[in-house]
Amino acid sequence: MKILLVAGARPNFMKVAPLLHECDQREGIRAILVHTGQHYDEGLSNIFFRDLGIRAADYELKVGSGSHAEQTAEIMRRFEPVCVAENPDVVLVVGDVNSTMAAALVAVKLGIPVAHVEAGLRSFDRTMPEEINRVVTDAVASWHFTTEPTANENLSREGAPEDRIHFVGNVMIDTLLTCRERAAGSRVLDELELRNGSAGPAPYGVVTLHRPSNVDDPARLLALVKALEEISETLLLIFPVHPRTSGALKRLGWPGGNGRLRLVKPLGYLDFLQLLANARLVVTDSGGIQEETTILQVPCLTVRENTERPITVSCGWNRLVGTDPDALVSACRRELARGPRRGQRPPLWDGKASQRILDVLAGEKLEETLGTTALEGLNSITQHTQETQ
Ligand code: UD1
Repeated sequence: MKILLVAGARPNFMKVAPLLHECDQREGIRAILVHTGQHYDEGLSNIFFRDLGIRAADYELKVGSGSHAEQTAEIMRRFEPVCVAENPDVVLVVGDVNSTMAAALVAVKLGIPVAHVEAGLRSFDRTMPEEINRVVTDAVASWHFTTEPTANENLSREGAPEDRIHFVGNVMIDTLLTCRERAAGSRVLDELELRNGSAGPAPYGVVTLHRPSNVDDPARLLALVKALEEISETLLLIFPVHPRTSGALKRLGWPGGNGRLRLVKPLGYLDFLQLLANARLVVTDSGGIQEETTILQVPCLTVRENTERPITVSCGWNRLVGTDPDALVSACRRELARGPRRGQRPPLWDGKASQRILDVLAGEKLEETLGTTALEGLNSITQHTQETQ
C-alpha cells in the first residue's frame, strides 16, 4: 500500500510525525512525504523536522507565502504531478491549513481517495480560512478520522456515511506523549531565566496570537497587547511571536514589551512543549494549543469567540474568553485567583491514534486485496466450469 502524506505548515508537522513513523514500521506500507513549503522558515519548519525526527521529505514543493488563492493554487499546481507520478493508494492530509485543502482537491480530482486526519471539527465561523479548509476537505475525503465525538456528529449531519467516520483520538497528542520526556530535558527555562533557584520555575504565563482576526486589524492588535501588558504586571508573560504577528506589530510601531511581557522568537517543538508544561496559564488563539494544554493540565484562555475543539472546554482546561481586551484581563485575574483546576482527559487521547488510523487503512486495503483475490478465484472457477461443459 502506498500512502502519500502531505505536510505544509507548522501545525501539520507534529501530526504527520507519528503517522509517518507508524507507516515506516509496518510491512507492506510505503509512505511518501510531501512538504508543500507553505511554511519554510527555520523556526516554523526545519526545527520541527529535527525535533520530531521526521525524515527528509521525498518532495519539497517550496510554494512559500502568498494570498490564499495564490498559495492554494500554487500548491495544487505543484502537487498534481507528484500525485500522477506516484499514483498512491491514498493521499493522507492532516488538519486545516491551505496545504490540507489544496492537496485533497488535487487527489480527489485524480480519482485518488483522500484520508483526512482531524476531520469534522467545526467552528461554524466561515470568516476563518481554516473553517473553509475543513469543510471543503471533509466534503471530498473518503476516510474521516476524528479526535472528538462532536466531530462525528458534525460529519453525520453533513451527510458523511457512518462507515467512513472513525473516532481514533488525536495524533498531535501521540506526538506530545512521545516527546514529553525529551522536552523535559530542554534548557528553555534556563535560557529564558525562568528558574527560581531550587524552587523550580518562577510563575509565568505563555501567550501566542496569530489568527488574522486578532492580529491583522491594527486597532484590535494594539488593544490586545495593551491588555497583555496589564496582565503582565501580575504575571510574567512569555510571548513567542509568529511571523504574521511580528509583521503586524512592526507596522503598528509598538515598542515591544515592558520586561514583564517578553517577546521571543517562535520556539521549536521541544522547547515550546517544556514552556507550556510549566506555565501557570496560557493565553492563545491557536487550535492545537487548546488541545495540548488540555493534556498538560494547564489552564488555557482562548482569545476567540468560538472553538472547533469544544472538548477542550468541556474537559475543564480551556475557556473561551472572547476577543474583548477587558474580558481577557478579568479572565486572567480570575484564573490566577482560583485554586488548582481539576479537569478530565478526552477519550482516546492516549498516544495510539496513528496506530488506529493505520489499522483502518491497512485493514481496508487487505479486505480489498482479499476481495479481489476471492473474486478472481470465483471467476476462474466459473470459466473452468464453462470450458469443461
Ligand atoms: C497558517 C495556517 C493556520 C495555522 C498557522 C500556524 C492557513 C490558512 N493558515 O497561518 O491555520 O494556524 O499557519 O502557523 O493555512 N511567514 C514567514 N515564514 C514562514 C511562513 C510564513 O515569515 O515560514 C510569514 C509570511 O509573511 C506570511 C505570513 O507569515 O505571509 C503568514 O503565513 P501563512 O502561511 O500565510 O499563514 P499563517 O498565519 O502562518
